[in-house]
Amino acid sequence: MALPFLLLQLLILLLPPLAASSTASFAKPGCEDKCGNIPIPYPFGFGDPKCYRNGYMVTCNHTSNPPKLYLSDSNVEVVEISSLGQLRTKSLVSYDCYDQTNDHGSISFNLEDFPYTFSDTRNKFTAIGCDTISNLIGFQGRNFTSGCNMLCIDTQSLVNGSCSGIGCCQTSIPKGFKHFIVDLGSFYRHNFVMDFNPCSYAFLVDSDWFNFSVHDIVGYMDFFNRNEGMVPIVLDWAIEGYTCGNASTSDLNYACGKNSECFNSPNGLGYLCNCSQGYQGNPYLSDGCQDIDECMDPTKNDCQAKSRCINTPGSYICSCPPGAQGDGRRNGTGCLATPKKQSHLIQICLGLGFGVFFVLFISTWLYWGIKKRNQNKCRENYIQQNGGL
Ligand SMILES: *[C@@H]1O[C@H](CO)[C@@H](O)[C@H](O)[C@H]1NC(C)=O
Ligand SMILES: *[C@@H]1O[C@H](CO)[C@@H](O)[C@H](O)[C@H]1NC(C)=O
Ligand SMILES: *[C@@H]1O[C@H](CO)[C@@H](O)[C@H](O)[C@H]1NC(C)=O
Ligand SMILES: *[C@@H]1O[C@H](CO)[C@@H](O)[C@H](O)[C@H]1NC(C)=O
Ligand SMILES: *[C@@H]1O[C@H](CO)[C@@H](O)[C@H](O)[C@H]1NC(C)=O
Ligand SMILES: *[C@@H]1O[C@H](CO)[C@@H](O)[C@H](O)[C@H]1NC(C)=O
Ligand SMILES: *[C@@H]1O[C@H](CO)[C@@H](O)[C@H](O)[C@H]1NC(C)=O
Repeated sequence: MALPFLLLQLLILLLPPLAASSTASFAKPGCEDKCGNIPIPYPFGFGDPKCYRNGYMVTCNHTSNPPKLYLSDSNVEVVEISSLGQLRTKSLVSYDCYDQTNDHGSISFNLEDFPYTFSDTRNKFTAIGCDTISNLIGFQGRNFTSGCNMLCIDTQSLVNGSCSGIGCCQTSIPKGFKHFIVDLGSFYRHNFVMDFNPCSYAFLVDSDWFNFSVHDIVGYMDFFNRNEGMVPIVLDWAIEGYTCGNASTSDLNYACGKNSECFNSPNGLGYLCNCSQGYQGNPYLSDGCQDIDECMDPTKNDCQAKSRCINTPGSYICSCPPGAQGDGRRNGTGCLATPKKQSHLIQICLGLGFGVFFVLFISTWLYWGIKKRNQNKCRENYIQQNGGL
């Protein structure tokens, strides 16, 4: 009964050791995997065209210190790239100031040529000011205009940390647009609030990053200068043009590597890849998803103390010590002593043996019994035929 299990163990022990996943690089072999201290996972990359997938080129400018990373050859600065479909870049702050004629009313951000879109879950359109008319106009994929209008008369009514319509306003954005313009203006040219609020600002921003402070309202260009005119924004990326349903896995252009799975990007842009259960690494490299050695990390396996953990591709088994069997898991049957089953077998054999012996014994006894009776009968007949004793 234990034979197939033993064979399995042997086979697993004979497998060549898999490369340690901790040393696995996230870039293609021979390509740089960092710009300054920003890691760059494939499909992103720079330099040699084989280092990135078409559409995911970035540029690393070593002139500045530390080096700066840009989307393709644009001036959009990248701060962080996450392999699960998002990247954080910087976005311009639109400003509109009145005590000196300084007006930068409208800004624009265009992702038309890129496989990216503005994340609807991570960003909020945000305006700051006490005499403010602001609009976010989105197009390319979806056309809409939404915005925030505000009037306030003093700083007393403003609350730190609260962006809910007094001096600060936020609105959600729809998914699936690739180009926006921010338009900024005022009702009264800040005439009634000039003493504490000469400027309005509007921008799309990573809502986890932005936290309104009364301090943002006051001063001439203070908010703008403090942030060097830029705020972080989150972009969603995906392999565009296909869904998991119609991306052909045999196609050379299929993005997901070995031991990985395809999933449709949440924003409807295309598909993304994820390492399968039990694997980790970069799913966009052909050999990027490496087996996790669950046995090295007690939190990743639930083998009982007395069972031995054996790593397998994508999983692990808990092998029970000799004389015990079961799945060896804390959350499972564990390891149970085996003798019971053997004694059953012996009992069955003994039972069968006794049974056969008994049947033989009875039949022999019956045979001899009948034979004897027949002999007796014969003798009686013989005696009768020959006239008594
Ligand atoms: C790098 O940035 C500097 C200014 O920061 C700029 O003058 C230069 O043209 C950039 N180099 C490349 C290759 O884009
Ligand atoms: C958005 O508007 C443009 C013209 O301004 C139009 O060509 C395009 O079809 C519209 N897109 C959608 C999704 O409605
Ligand atoms: C709001 O925060 C600023 C610093 O960001 C602080 O100077 C100010 O006193 C705070 N105001 C209130 C009402 O808490
Ligand atoms: C935002 O700032 C206020 C004080 O200015 C603070 O109480 C609050 O915890 C901050 N919120 C977040 C999400 O950081
Ligand atoms: C794949 O399916 C999506 C959504 O159904 C569609 O927009 C796209 O054009 C299809 N691509 C191909 C190559 O068939
Ligand atoms: C990716 O796979 C891991 C397990 O392999 C799973 O826990 C995670 O939820 C998956 N992520 C997505 C976005 O599907
Ligand atoms: C045991 O594992 C299964 C799935 O692996 C899980 O659904 C169940 O809740 C676990 N039970 C305990 C007691 O941890």
